[in-house]
Amino acid sequence: MHDQDEIDHARRLLASARRILILTGAGVSAESGVPTFRGPEGLWKSHRPEALATPEAFQADPRLVWEWYGWRRERVGACRPNAAHAAIARLTLRNPDARLVTQNVDGLHELALEEAASEELSPGDSAAPNLPHRALPIRLHGSLFRARCTGCDVRTPDRAPVDATSEATLPRCGKCGAMLRPDVVWFGEGLDPEILREATESAETAEVCLVVGTSGLVHPAASLPLLTKESGGVVLEVNPESTPLTEIALASIRGRAGQLLPSLLAVEAES
Ligand code: OAD
Ligand code: ZN
Repeated sequence: MHDQDEIDHARRLLASARRILILTGAGVSAESGVPTFRGPEGLWKSHRPEALATPEAFQADPRLVWEWYGWRRERVGACRPNAAHAAIARLTLRNPDARLVTQNVDGLHELALEEAASEELSPGDSAAPNLPHRALPIRLHGSLFRARCTGCDVRTPDRAPVDATSEATLPRCGKCGAMLRPDVVWFGEGLDPEILREATESAETAEVCLVVGTSGLVHPAASLPLLTKESGGVVLEVNPESTPLTEIALASIRGRAGQLLPSLLAVEAES
């Protein structure tokens, strides 16, 4: 299905580069059972994500929007990282110049990193390993497992099931009592400027930008690979389908992330 020469070429490029940026989208979690946004399971109760992931939708019907996020928390909570998350985690642990930028809010990269770190940094030690900050994903779109207060703006980790029976049962701020909202970036909202700065800098300085499992339709995330290319780096893509980013990619490998990434990233990188 995929062209072996193209895979070998991409593998060599990745093995010889130090500054590597990996940009992921929902497709990297597809093999874990997380539905992609624009795939066959993209609709929830006949709503398109673009219709629910907006401040207007939340204002009009916070119960419906929280019900959707509650369903996603539950669904994603039952998923495990796959071989692609694991391969990326190992790369970012071993290569201090590799960065991961993700559009995903599912937390699977973080889980894979914890698992890889306990294997690589402190095998046999049951205490949680100290994760190097640079190995953590730069999360462009926030997290399903965090909430933000619509009154005082405080942000908190929040993995609790959501009771969306009525507006009165929705999650509320422990400090000021106002309604909480998911701590994610919705359509029409700006990204956190510091996060965007970090992602932009990584894209501009990367020798290789490996784009995995994104439809390349949502900006500014989808503009990052172009920054790498404009700064003299190369773009590689892994996706079963072609996307608007295919045309700027030096090689676009048609296939699934979980199948391809372990061999593509099997760099014996000593840090
Ligand atoms: P999409 O659902 O738009 O695209 C998923 C991509 O993954 C598609 O291009 C698929 O072909 C590809 N894909 C599917 N299975 C794959 C596999 N096993 N391996 C590799 N690729 C696979 O998801 P995103 O591009 O992440 O934003 O969507 C971007 C943003 O739009 C999301 O972060 C979210 C969404 O609405 C916000 O919520 C702000
Ligand atoms: Zn509050």
